[in-house]
Amino acid sequence: MELLRFSAFWCGTILFASLLLEEVESNIMKVRRLCKFCDVRKTNCTGKGSCKVECDITSICPNDDDVCVSIWRNNDDNITFDTVCHSPSQKLYGLVLEDYNNSKCEMKERKGMGSQFFICSCSQDECNEQIFFNSNMDSQVVAVILVSLVPLLVMAVFVITSFYVYRVYRQRQASSRRKKGAPMDFSDARAIMIDDEGSDSSSTHANNLNHNTELLPIELETLVGKGRFAEVYKAKLKQGSSVSEEQGFETVAIKIFSYEEYASWKNEKEIFSDADLRHENVLHFLTAEERKVQRQYWLITAYHPRGNLQEYLIHHIVDWHDLWMLGSSLTEGVAHLHSDHTLCGRYKIPIAHRDIKSSNILVKSDLTCCLCDFGLALRLDNTLSVDELANSGQVGTARYMAPEVLESRINLENIESFKQADVYSMALVLWEIISRCTAIGEVKEYVPPFGNLREHPCVESMKDSVLRDRGRPEIPNSWINHPGIQIVCASIDDCWDHDPEARLTAQCVAERFNDMDYLDKLSDRSDSEEKIPEEILVVDDEK
Ligand code: ADE
Repeated sequence: MELLRFSAFWCGTILFASLLLEEVESNIMKVRRLCKFCDVRKTNCTGKGSCKVECDITSICPNDDDVCVSIWRNNDDNITFDTVCHSPSQKLYGLVLEDYNNSKCEMKERKGMGSQFFICSCSQDECNEQIFFNSNMDSQVVAVILVSLVPLLVMAVFVITSFYVYRVYRQRQASSRRKKGAPMDFSDARAIMIDDEGSDSSSTHANNLNHNTELLPIELETLVGKGRFAEVYKAKLKQGSSVSEEQGFETVAIKIFSYEEYASWKNEKEIFSDADLRHENVLHFLTAEERKVQRQYWLITAYHPRGNLQEYLIHHIVDWHDLWMLGSSLTEGVAHLHSDHTLCGRYKIPIAHRDIKSSNILVKSDLTCCLCDFGLALRLDNTLSVDELANSGQVGTARYMAPEVLESRINLENIESFKQADVYSMALVLWEIISRCTAIGEVKEYVPPFGNLREHPCVESMKDSVLRDRGRPEIPNSWINHPGIQIVCASIDDCWDHDPEARLTAQCVAERFNDMDYLDKLSDRSDSEEKIPEEILVVDDEK
C-alpha cells in the first residue's frame, strides 16, 4: 500500500512537471519580438549608406507576429525616423510590408507618400536599429548596367560572327574559283599599280609569296633590263587564265633567272620575303615562282616605267626640287634597309645591299627612288658567323666599291661595316644626281662617278684611284653656291670618307634632307627640263 502511495506520488509529480515544462516551452515559443519603438524622431541620417536610428527605447512588441519597422521621411528638410512594431498582416500607412522576413532592415523608397519616404521591415530583435539605404539602388545600378551592356555584347558577338562567316565564305569562294581556274584575286597586283600611280599607301602591306602551285597568268612584253644574273621584262598580269582584252591586266616587272643562277634568285627571294623590308623606297615585291617548263626562276615586282636612275639621269636634267625628292627618298630607302626597327618600332633584321649604284635604283612616277636588285644583299643577322660573312667575299660593282671592300679589308666582326660600305656607294649616287642638277650652274653630259675610267673598271684600277690616289669624284666650287647643294655635298664628303667609321649613317643623311625641306619649298620649278624624250632603254648592268 505504502508502495502504491509512493508510486502515485511520483507519477503525479512527473505529470505536473511535464505539464509545467510544456507551458514554459509554449511561452518561450510565443516570446514576442524586441524592436526599437520611438515612433517619430528627428534624425540627421541623410538617407544614404547605413544609419543607426536615434531611438533609445526597445520595446517588446504587443502582438505575437509583429515585426520591426523603420521609416525614414524627408519632408522639406524635416527628416525623421519612425520606429515601430507592426504586424505584416496589416497595412502600414496604406503599404504592405514586403521584406519583413529579412534579418536586416533594408530601406526601399515608396513613391506617392507626399514626401521622400523609405521603409524597411525585418524580423530579428532590434533589427530596425541599423538600417541600410542604397542596397536596392546598387542592385538597380547593376541591373541598369547589365541591361545596357547585354545588347552591346550581343551586337559585338553578332558582328564578330558575321565577319568570321564572311571571311570563311570569301576564302571558300576564292579557293573554289582557283580550283575551277576562274580569275584569281590579284589585289596585291592591283596595289602595285596604285604604287606606280604615285600613291604609296599600299607599300606597307605584308610581303606575299606565291605558295600556290599554280603560276600567275603572265604575258611577257618587252625586255627592260639585263644584268649579269637575270633579265628584266615588262609584263602583263592577266586576271583570268584566258587571254581576253576585257579581263583587264596589271603591268608588272618580271626578273628572270636561268636555272644556273638559282643562288642569286634564292637570295633575292629570301631578302624580299622578309615582310619588314617593305617600304615605299624599296621595290614592291609580289611573288617568286619556279617556271619548270622554261627552266627559269622568276621574281615578280612592281613595274616602274621611268626605269632606273642611271637611265633617268642620262636622259634628264633635274632641278633642286627633283634632286631633293630623289636624294631624300634614296637615303630613306637605304636607312630603312639598314635599320634594326620597322616604321612602327618593331625589331627587324638590318640588311646590307652591297651593290648600291644608280642602275640598281628605280625612279617612280613621283620622282622618288626605290632600291632594287637584292641579289647580293646580306641579312645582318646576329647569328651569322665570321666565317659565313667572310665567305660572302668581295661583292658588288668595282666602280662603286668602298676602299675597304676593294682592299678586302672589311671588318667582318662588326655588322656596321657592311652598312658603312653601302653609305660610300650611296654617296657616289648622290654625287651623280647633283651632277645633273640645274642648281649647280652649267650641267654637263651624264658621266658616272670615276667617269675617266673605262666602261667597266676592274677592281685593280679602282684600287689605284680610290686607295692609292685617294681619289673621289670632283665637287667643283661652283656647285656649292646653292645652299641645299652645299649641305648635300658636305654630307657626300662625310659619306665617302676613307675611314668607314667616320662616315655618316644613311639615317643621318636622310634627316639632313628632311631638315632641308624649307629649301625645297623656296625652289623655282621652272629650271626643270627634259633633255631627251623619254624612251625605254635596255642597259647592261655593270658588274
Ligand atoms: N628595271 C629593273 N627592274 C625594273 C622594274 N621593276 N620596273 C622597271 N624597270 C625595271
